Amino acid sequence: MNIENAILQRRSIRQYEKGAHVSQDDLHRILRSAMYAPSAMNRQPWEFYVATEESLLQTIQTIHPHCAFLTDAGTGIIVCIDTEKEYAGMGIIDVSLASQNLMLEAYALGYGTCYCGISEEQSVALQQLLSMPKTIKPSGLIVLGKPLNATEHTPSERFNPNAVHLNKW
Ligand SMILES: Cc1cc2nc3c(=O)[nH]c(=O)nc-3n(C[C@H](O)[C@H](O)[C@H](O)COP(=O)(O)O)c2cc1C
Repeated sequence: MNIENAILQRRSIRQYEKGAHVSQDDLHRILRSAMYAPSAMNRQPWEFYVATEESLLQTIQTIHPHCAFLTDAGTGIIVCIDTEKEYAGMGIIDVSLASQNLMLEAYALGYGTCYCGISEEQSVALQQLLSMPKTIKPSGLIVLGKPLNATEHTPSERFNPNAVHLNKW
């Protein structure tokens, strides 16, 4: 898939085919692309917790009520910062870049995703629930699955010329 098409056509998906699963090969490709993101000093300070068990997904949903579609989707990827590896507090940037790569690769492979931000409180709750070391900080939750519909919505044009400042403000 053409990179520009992937960037322009990817949308957050909130309705999923129940019971459809992500193949091991596709999951590998999706996570591999995530790990090709740039990172400060090339520290690659990311960890990915992949949750697929239904009871676990349900518990995660209780911690994060704004991802009610997680259990239907069947896969949740908790993107975490390894705070011992990150450079100068830039881990959040690194994992955010990795997350976008992950979502674009998933889209190119025919999957739907929805990035769900997590609060400090939710981060601590997830860290405890998933028995993560204290140095690992959950930063975002990416819902992954097979979309129920080809597209849920078409956004209006997002290019905003007023947000561009060429040589002067
Ligand atoms: C930091 C962040 C937090 C988000 N949290 C949620 C969330 O909790 N639940 C949800 O359904 N979507 C969430 N989204 C998805 C946005 O609503 C979505 O990206 C935005 O409306 C633009 O739509 P698009 O992704 O289809 O282009 C989040 C996105 C970001 C970047």
